Amino acid sequence: MSAPTHIPVLLQETIEALAVQPGGRYIDCTLGAGGHAAAILDRSSPGGQLLGIDADPEVIEIAKARLEAYSSSILLVNENFINLEAICIKYDFLPVHGILFDLGLSSLQLNNHGRGFSFQHDAPLDMRLSPSQEVTAADIINTSSEAELAHLIKTYGEEGYSHQIAHRVVQERPINTTLQLVRSIEQVVGGRRGRLHPATKTFQALRIAVNHELEHLKAALKQAINLLGFEGRLVVISYHSLEDRIVKQLMQQESRDCICPPGVPTCVCGHRACLRLINKRVITPSPTEVQLNPRSHSAKLRAAEHIITQDEYYRTGEEHSLSAQLNAEGWRRPALLKKLRATFLML
Ligand SMILES: C[S@@+](CC[C@H](N)C(=O)[O-])C[C@H]1O[C@@H](n2cnc3c(N)ncnc32)[C@H](O)[C@@H]1O
Repeated sequence: MSAPTHIPVLLQETIEALAVQPGGRYIDCTLGAGGHAAAILDRSSPGGQLLGIDADPEVIEIAKARLEAYSSSILLVNENFINLEAICIKYDFLPVHGILFDLGLSSLQLNNHGRGFSFQHDAPLDMRLSPSQEVTAADIINTSSEAELAHLIKTYGEEGYSHQIAHRVVQERPINTTLQLVRSIEQVVGGRRGRLHPATKTFQALRIAVNHELEHLKAALKQAINLLGFEGRLVVISYHSLEDRIVKQLMQQESRDCICPPGVPTCVCGHRACLRLINKRVITPSPTEVQLNPRSHSAKLRAAEHIITQDEYYRTGEEHSLSAQLNAEGWRRPALLKKLRATFLML
């Protein structure tokens, strides 16, 4: 990969939603080329700290070079954000004032023709964020049953032609390159459908499956809430409806005191809100931003603030959450951190 060319999406809106302040401690769970990270570091100076995480080792190297000027304020970790809590414990980086997820891929990865993310260039069907992952997109395409492929393309790509595409792919296997797959899809779907390339949805589905994107997002968001200090902000930028649904549902659920099904006369769930929604309506890029950076067109930003409840102070036993302990007893407690280190598997 060459010089960084990724343009950070909704940059000003992100900094505002995170309420970045001097001396604050922030986590960028999707570091990419470091565009958002640099802006967070500028705004949190003097004294700000940033933990940057990215699963892609090539991207981490690029971000490291870009953020060199901030080296005394940053810690960059090449890891998957599914391990967010363990990473924070390992590096003693908690609780924090803000956590950002800017999901999906950076232009660095989409423009890197060897990775197989783009249907516009011929490359091995790989799509792994990290070479340490075992299963590639080619493995899924060539070893899944027709029914499994159809289900995957339907569920993760929301593709109306999922059965026809799966049938064709199985007939034409082995398929090992991006353009071989594109040709199979085009034979079923035909040419362009509006502004969408016919392979867009199938490629999205494969990428989600290879990288377990939705499962990892769900788990990491829950961990993120627990790592936020009082009034800490969680900001998520998503790029397709499957991601946005997960973010929206979690934020809505965690900002409600009762999550009993409709019709239950008295609350039996005992659920207590731990978030306050910052923006009731989703934030999207302006027409000017979309014009300058067409890849921002599908971006949706949601933000919430961690609030403390009376219950969190008094809850005891197994249920006692990390955030409750940290909030109830101050920003940093060496004894608690020691206990947590012993509890979690170290990376
Ligand atoms: C849209 S880019 C972020 C761009 C960044 N905000 C910037 O301004 O340059 C998303 C990044 O998240 C990383 N990523 C996606 N899923 C991840 C995961 N589960 N764990 C860690 N990094 C992940 C990708 O490798 C990619 O570099």
